[in-house]
Amino acid sequence: MIKTFSSRAGRLSATNKKFLQSKSKSILKIGEKPSTTKPLIVDIGFGDAQSFVCDVVENKDYVFIGIEPYKKGFARAVQFYEENMPKNMFLFNGDAREFLAEIKYKIDFIRIHFPDPWPKKKHAKRRLVTKDFLLTSHSILKKGGSIEIITDSSIYQQHLEELISHQNYFKQIKKFPFTYQISTFHKKALDKGHTIKEYVLERTN
Ligand SMILES: C[S@@+](CC[C@H](N)C(=O)[O-])C[C@H]1O[C@@H](n2cnc3c(N)ncnc32)[C@H](O)[C@@H]1O
Repeated sequence: MIKTFSSRAGRLSATNKKFLQSKSKSILKIGEKPSTTKPLIVDIGFGDAQSFVCDVVENKDYVFIGIEPYKKGFARAVQFYEENMPKNMFLFNGDAREFLAEIKYKIDFIRIHFPDPWPKKKHAKRRLVTKDFLLTSHSILKKGGSIEIITDSSIYQQHLEELISHQNYFKQIKKFPFTYQISTFHKKALDKGHTIKEYVLERTN
C-alpha cells in the first residue's frame, strides 16, 4: 500500500476499532468477486462513507464495491453494513490499484469522486488516475462500461483532460447512471466556490 495512507489513520474510536476487527460479510479479500448477477460498480475512495452509504441505498439495482484505505471511513462503512445489512454493498480496506490488479472478472462501472489532487508537480506521480490506471480500468471494464471522475481541482482537471486526449480506448460521454449525494469533499468544493467538473469515460473497444 502506498505510504501516504498511514497518516490518514486518524483517531479511531472504540466503535471504529470494533467494526474494523469484525468479520463482516461485507468485507472482500483482494480481488474477490461479490456473489451477484447485478451490475457491479467500484467506488474508489469513499472517504468518510457518509454519502457512499446513501448512494448504495438509493441504487439497489447495482452492487457496489467500495474501496477505501482510510480506516475511520472504512470502519463507518462496515458499521453501516452491520446495522442495515444492505444486500448491494461490499468493501475493501486498501489501495484500489492493488484490488483492481487482482480482479479476474469484468465490472460495469468505476466511480471516483474527488480524488486526492496532489497539486504539486513533485507529487504528481501519486495521483490515482494515470495512463496505467486507465489501461487497467479498460482491461476490467465490460465493453460499454464507464468511469466517472468528479473533481474541483483545476490542476487535476487539466491532468485528466491531457490523459483523455492522449488515448483512444475511452470516449467522453455525458451520462453516468447513478444518483449521488453531495459528499464531504463535494460540499467543501461548493463552499469554496470551486468549479466542479465531471468526466464520464465509456470504454469503446
Ligand atoms: C479527497 S478524498 C474524497 C473522499 C470522498 N470521495 C468524498 O468525495 O468526500 C479522497 C479519498 O480517496 C482515498 N484514496 C486515495 N488513494 C486511494 C487509492 N489508491 N485507493 C482507494 N482510495 C484511495 C483517500 O483515502 C480519501 O479518502
